Amino acid sequence: MSAAADEAPAAASRVVHAGLSQRYRAVRARTLALAEPLSAEDQTVQSMPDASPTKWHLGHTTWFFETFILAERPSYRRFDPGFAYLFNSYYEAAGPRHARPKRGLLTRPSAETVRAYRRHVDAAMEALLDGGVDTRTEALAVLGLAHEEQHQELILTDILHLFGENPLRPAYRQGAPAPAPAPGPAEWVAFEGGLTMVGAEPGLAFAFDNEQPAGQALVGDFRLADRLTTNAEWIAFIEDGGYQRPELWLSEGWDRVRAEGWTAPLYWERRDGAWWTLTLSGFAPVDPAAPVLHVSYYEADAYASWRGLRLPTEAEWEHAVRTAPGRLRQLYDSAWQWTASAYAPYPGFRPAAGAVGEYNGKFMVSQMVLRGGSLATPPGHSRPSYRNFFHPWQRWQFSGVRLAADGTGEEASAEGFLEDMVDGLSLPQKKVPPKWFYDAEGSRLFEAICETREYYPTRTETALLREIAPEIAARAAEATVLVEFGSGASVKTRLIVEASPQLVAYVPIDISEPALAEAAARIARDYPQLKVAPVVGDFTAPLDLPPIAGRGRRLGFFPGSTIGNFRPEEAGVFLRAARTLLGREAKLVVGVDLVKDAQTLEAAYDDAAGATAAFNLNLLARANRELGADFDLDAFSHRAVWNARESRIEMHLVSRKPQTVRLGGRTFRFAEGETIHTENSYKFTLEGFSALAAEAGWRVERGWRSSDPAFGVVLLGA
Ligand code: TRP
Repeated sequence: MSAAADEAPAAASRVVHAGLSQRYRAVRARTLALAEPLSAEDQTVQSMPDASPTKWHLGHTTWFFETFILAERPSYRRFDPGFAYLFNSYYEAAGPRHARPKRGLLTRPSAETVRAYRRHVDAAMEALLDGGVDTRTEALAVLGLAHEEQHQELILTDILHLFGENPLRPAYRQGAPAPAPAPGPAEWVAFEGGLTMVGAEPGLAFAFDNEQPAGQALVGDFRLADRLTTNAEWIAFIEDGGYQRPELWLSEGWDRVRAEGWTAPLYWERRDGAWWTLTLSGFAPVDPAAPVLHVSYYEADAYASWRGLRLPTEAEWEHAVRTAPGRLRQLYDSAWQWTASAYAPYPGFRPAAGAVGEYNGKFMVSQMVLRGGSLATPPGHSRPSYRNFFHPWQRWQFSGVRLAADGTGEEASAEGFLEDMVDGLSLPQKKVPPKWFYDAEGSRLFEAICETREYYPTRTETALLREIAPEIAARAAEATVLVEFGSGASVKTRLIVEASPQLVAYVPIDISEPALAEAAARIARDYPQLKVAPVVGDFTAPLDLPPIAGRGRRLGFFPGSTIGNFRPEEAGVFLRAARTLLGREAKLVVGVDLVKDAQTLEAAYDDAAGATAAFNLNLLARANRELGADFDLDAFSHRAVWNARESRIEMHLVSRKPQTVRLGGRTFRFAEGETIHTENSYKFTLEGFSALAAEAGWRVERGWRSSDPAFGVVLLGA
């Protein structure tokens, strides 16, 4: 477009856009406000070639409007013709420029002169916008403002890096923007695969050329963490030797780790055994709950490998944000999220026309895309289609990690198994949650334990229940729905069912799907009057009862002293949750094994025929089968010990020699004699258990004790 045409636009194409000139003023003012806490010296120095001095940012954003909008107008007089050279960043079409690494050598123009330059350009721009502009100029102004907002983020990013070079660890300002803390554990949000839309939807007020054109992408089933990876999680990675294990790293990444001596995210420092970091508000202990910041793509990728997970692709990230925005936390306000996608043009991409075509397109090689936004991103600047991009080694951005996994997770209780194994084997005292004992083989072996001579609880409890079932039934005469926790083979259930003809429904809950299905089928066959509605699930986590349980009062049944497999505080939590689940006027029957001599106890968990040993070792066999672990089953042995102080039997798997085991891409070391703690079985007194139940809000109606070996059954009322 010729200058003459631009000077005298046809009246019809001239737009007066009050919103735009207002926005221009607001954005320009915000940039100055960000520079406010900084002295002229702070604004002059450049800490590395990637970062620029604040003063340069102030000049360059001004140059953008001058060069692409004002310069071609005959009436415009440049503030200083030399600035065209000084403040050009990378636009070849706009002529030669000052070398980027030398931006910090400019003591002239002074910070004051750069502000005068801003005022000069602002006066011209404001007059222009107030008078109305053609659509091309409008589009350039809108681009200039988005550009300026990007530099607002860079002002913060770059000043932090500069202060990071200063041994005094100065603060940018107290109360500066900080990431949103992560409230609680990460949840997976699952997405079904298919064709999805990526890119800026047509009709959006503004989007960069690199977000266009919108198109389609094919994604598989996947899951996304609903929050970012935390500092606490990152510390676990460090402590597991994350920065010392080449097998976790991309080759280029490992080269960086070694060349630059990385041992932690940028700005982290170890003082008196604790991690500290530099934030915009100053030097502070690393907040374990806050998202990790200042990690490179290489680190993000290594961390994901360590977790046995991966980074999301751009298409997955965008699909997730478009379909479940409310379920994902820390999207735009904490850290840019590295994706596994290289920064490349979308099919059909055309750089914007003219010199601004150099804005994004020419960088489309060798960089990785980040999605979302950070604590430094101006509010409202980003959007679902926004593509940020940096080289995979760069760490001075507010960049973090959102993990992804393959599949929706429905197929993958194995996923939970892997996570629990990896987490548990990473602890100083290795341990694994006992629920993973119960695959089909584990459930079968458990039944075998109950048949052994030494394992008295099943036999003793069954005999006791046979005796007291009529009394239980009498006290629970109003209950019509029987809910059993950890039902296994549902043998004892029959005693209750046969004594309680008023029952109409039975809801067995168990983690082992095969054991549950078989037991439920047998009960349904033997008691045709009973509706059976099995629930496959982990009853230690919140769960819903099937609709069939909606009618009638409930009788809960929790035999086998399974309550003893919880830690006391977990037992309290369970009892409280059961009270809520079972509802008004419910009853709950709990079987509890009682304290007795160590010999009887230890023998019960270490039978001569080796059923318990086989059951315990099956956990490792299962990890080999399902997770591809390489446990040598002959190199571990079963141990059961009575811990009198804790009033519990402990089961361990003892490493018979020094060895290493591979699991989920990780290596776990075992010293000779080191153990994996696999289960506790707490033993109670009737008084002790009654107190626990009372504390959880239950009324203790009655307790019974068997003859030797002693076993207890307690009836609780809501
Ligand atoms: N809860 C019972 C107990 O602690 C049954 C049980 C659970 C068990 N896990 C076990 C028995 C492991 C033997 C081994 O006795």
